[in-house]
Amino acid sequence: MNDINRRTLLIGSAGAAGLLGLGGVAAWSKSGPGPASTVGVSSAAVRRAEDMRRKANQRVVNARLIAQPITLNLGGLVVQTWGYGDSLPGPVLRAQAGDLLRVKVDNKLSTGTSVHWHGIALRNDMDGVPGITQDPIAAGKGFTYEFTAPDPGTYFYHPHSGVQLDRGLYGALVIDDPAEPGKYDEEWIVVLDDWVDGTGRTPDEVLEGLRDAKGSAQDGHMSGKDMGHMGESMQSPLLGGAGDIDYPHYLINGRTPGSPATLTAKPGQRVRIRIINAGSDTAFRLALGGHRMMVTHSDGFPVEPLSTDALLIGMGERYDVVVTLGDGAFPLVASAEGKNGQAMAVVRTGAGRRPGPDVQPAELNRRVVLSTDMTAAAQARLPKKKVDRQLDLALSGSMAPYRWTINGKMFPDTAPLMVKQGERVRLRFQNRSMMFHPMHVHGHTFALASGGARKDTVIVRPMQTVDVELEADNPGRWATHCHNIYHAETGMMTTLDYEK
Ligand code: C2O
Ligand code: CU
Repeated sequence: MNDINRRTLLIGSAGAAGLLGLGGVAAWSKSGPGPASTVGVSSAAVRRAEDMRRKANQRVVNARLIAQPITLNLGGLVVQTWGYGDSLPGPVLRAQAGDLLRVKVDNKLSTGTSVHWHGIALRNDMDGVPGITQDPIAAGKGFTYEFTAPDPGTYFYHPHSGVQLDRGLYGALVIDDPAEPGKYDEEWIVVLDDWVDGTGRTPDEVLEGLRDAKGSAQDGHMSGKDMGHMGESMQSPLLGGAGDIDYPHYLINGRTPGSPATLTAKPGQRVRIRIINAGSDTAFRLALGGHRMMVTHSDGFPVEPLSTDALLIGMGERYDVVVTLGDGAFPLVASAEGKNGQAMAVVRTGAGRRPGPDVQPAELNRRVVLSTDMTAAAQARLPKKKVDRQLDLALSGSMAPYRWTINGKMFPDTAPLMVKQGERVRLRFQNRSMMFHPMHVHGHTFALASGGARKDTVIVRPMQTVDVELEADNPGRWATHCHNIYHAETGMMTTLDYEK
């Protein structure tokens, strides 16, 4: 697709307006229950796995989420959108590892929805994926999710229905460690997002625009010609093709850089920052002006502390960093990797002028790390074990027609990844496209090869192969997909299924 078409997707006139409402649950609802040879979503095996997580006197944490249409002020920009409650991000949900979460979800939207607990190794029937683990929560109806959260860490929740995540439907989910060493004074939660809803197009209309794109690039690898065209607007030296959508706004904690969120502490304090990329099509390069950051966790699990100037964060990834704060006002910038624009918040510990919305801290262009640069902390390492089964996932697709595939197939026609309980499984992600894909596996935390970080979402760069290993210890049917929500919705998704 050429530059002009690409722009049209975003700022073109009302062509797609009549398509409103077509999006909804789309591909995610086409898949039926699994074949008889696989462990069922509500089977005894799933219940047994949950029973093992439950302890006597388990604490229960009750919460409520109301998915509803809302009017939001993003800082000078007022939009009609969908959110949880009346804030963006939605309410922070917080519990301790081992607690039972009981979250009543009310759907006040005009369409079906669901809530997925991204990164949590929970019971399969509470995973919140319509068409795989449950029926959509119908408009006007409710659903109570109830599950044990076994592992501490930084997570988030969002719908698994169409491209609803690209509206205001997301929030942080923090699972505290009862044995937290707590070597910090303050804690902040920083949620990054790319924003279009309410600015002239809904995410469903953006998706229809992508799908309507006509062109010659067929299945499989993109031709050199198409790559060249893609390169014109959204290329990143670190990621290659950096995205499909040129968003008009980027947000930190629901605010535009013109009217940013302010995070306050005292000079010299150590602050733990839990960073979540809730974007749908944007990786962010994040830095705090005047500071270095110590990365302590990746996708909730501890890594060997790694000092860096900047972090590259794919959609669905989370990082925890610890920073010792200077005195003054500093920009926390999340630059949209390979795109035009950035999100910003202000870190304030003292007097000083508020940084302007376009400030570019030098740290953004110093040392930039991603998860493949990290090592798991000793307690997070997956014990060495012989691999019982390797499953290859070849990732490819095209812009025109807009479709994304795993092993040449679009979900729900993708072949499930079959595993057996107790196996050590290697997933080999082979990116055969010229765009990066943040690949996400539900219900498990995998290990990057040879002592690498434990994660549930990993960036796979163009033409790169990334091996990850996981323990098949959580029976059920688990969505496995690209966390570019537009890619997932147009085919780049499959399931990890347990054989009976
Ligand atoms: Cu964050 Cu399948 O999801
Ligand atoms: Cu992708």
